[in-house]
Amino acid sequence: MKIKIPIPDGVHVPRVRGLLASSFGRAPSDAFFARTPDRVYLEEGYRGCAILSEAPLGAYLTKFAVSAEAQGEGIARDLWEALVAETPVVFWRARRQNPISEWYAKLCDGLMRLREWTVYWKGLEPASVPAAIEWAVGQPVDISHDED
Ligand SMILES: CC(C)(COP(=O)(O)OP(=O)(O)OC[C@H]1O[C@@H](n2cnc3c(N)ncnc32)[C@H](O)[C@@H]1OP(=O)(O)O)[C@@H](O)C(=O)NCCC(=O)NCCS
Repeated sequence: MKIKIPIPDGVHVPRVRGLLASSFGRAPSDAFFARTPDRVYLEEGYRGCAILSEAPLGAYLTKFAVSAEAQGEGIARDLWEALVAETPVVFWRARRQNPISEWYAKLCDGLMRLREWTVYWKGLEPASVPAAIEWAVGQPVDISHDED
């Protein structure tokens, strides 16, 4: 499996929209696509993606998704390995009820369970943790009534 790392400008946005819609059950809002991400890791067939934006404290993983028919093949694991290899600090959030939380708990250095979200981080300085949590929970909800 190949993971391409194109610059965001080189990404075929309608294919990413289709991938996210398949993965999450509905496409993100137009507001999400209006924000240009800093890095996108893509499975070569657009069956999985990890989308990152640079936040003041490190890289924020804004979307991590594998299309419905490709889940369970190890694509998320490959995307994760590609991104952590070149991302010393990364943090992200997931809905409390997301079934992937156990895996995220294994990947992260630490996590904080809040009412709606769990925030995860890897590589953060301890002193930066509160600000990262605040930053993550303050991000817009791009996919209504579902995990993002
Ligand atoms: C979460 C997601 C990206 C995982 O992608 P995937 O390619 O199916 O995952 P992989 O096959 O690489 O598996 C990675 C690990 O996650 C575990 N896993 C995958 N799907 C799981 C599920 N539904 N429930 C529990 N664990 C799961 C695997 O067992 C594996 O763990 P291991 O390495 O300890 O064996 C994918 O299920 C998805 O797109 N879900 C919908 C969107 C979403 O919720 N994204 C995350 C939002 S924060």
